[in-house]
Amino acid sequence: MASSAFASPWSLRSPKLQGQASPTAAKSSSRLRFRGGGLRRIRCDHSCFEVKSVGYHPPGTQFNLLKDVSFSLPEKSFGLIFGQSGSGKTTLLQLLAGLNKPTSGSIIIQRYGDSGEHKGPPEHLSPEKVGIVFQFPERYFIADNVLDEITFGWPRQKVSTQSKKQLAFKLQRAFNWVGLDRISLDKDPHSLSGGYKRRLALAIQLVEVPDLLILDEPLAGLDWKARTDVVKLLKHLKREVTILVVSHDLRELASLVDQSWRMEMGGTLREDSLPF
Ligand SMILES: Nc1ncnc2c1ncn2[C@@H]1O[C@H](COP(=O)(O)OP(=O)(O)OP(=O)(O)O)[C@@H](O)[C@H]1O
Ligand SMILES: [Mg+2]
Repeated sequence: MASSAFASPWSLRSPKLQGQASPTAAKSSSRLRFRGGGLRRIRCDHSCFEVKSVGYHPPGTQFNLLKDVSFSLPEKSFGLIFGQSGSGKTTLLQLLAGLNKPTSGSIIIQRYGDSGEHKGPPEHLSPEKVGIVFQFPERYFIADNVLDEITFGWPRQKVSTQSKKQLAFKLQRAFNWVGLDRISLDKDPHSLSGGYKRRLALAIQLVEVPDLLILDEPLAGLDWKARTDVVKLLKHLKREVTILVVSHDLRELASLVDQSWRMEMGGTLREDSLPF
């Protein structure tokens, strides 16, 4: 992986994982506004990110850090995992990003048709399609300007003009999504405000739109203004990507949450509403 806090879409490789899926939390409908003003639910194709009976027992440890973890998150929804310090939340995120390999279980994307039936076989969740922003990503900025920071993991070999145009388009899109479009690309990333540093960290992960965007403690260490900005930004981003967050800041994120789970000490995960 790159020596940055971010797992670049070009820098991660992991074993293929396969498994059988179950549509436990499949989003099987969307809302459309019809003439006359009414909202009606319609069923449509959708995909769901699914974790099935994942266990993790790293070599040299006595116990499993994660035990039989199962959950699913429909596309373009916002999932939140909370729980005590040391319960295994970050450990789980590392498995989802392909940074470590589960000892058992599978992590897949399953497509569903109109009536909730499986549409095709489950696909393994490729690490190239996962964006992860670790805790305090700005501590790992390595470039002295915004452009170099965001293009750090990009292919260095000669690319065609067409590919360059595509990359430029994707970069512009990512900058627009996170509201960085007015920032000069020459600016030193370390001179940005706390909130803008987080935006940059997110933009790096959004150049190649991930199937799953994972954020570990996205509000940690920010002042109240930056926290409000990041929450607003995530609300907007939720329309574009599926987001899974680990956080202790439950109240601030509550309005975004579609599904939540509690990680218990010992590495078991259970669906749970926010505790307030
Ligand atoms: N590779 C490893 N080998 C052995 N133990 C590990 C390894 N990785 C993590 N641990 C242990 O697993 C437990 C869970 O750690 P983890 O960082 O996932 O917790 P967390 O829920 O993210 O905590 P926090 O809320 O403080 O961030 C801790 O006791 C940690 O020391
Ligand atoms: Mg953690």
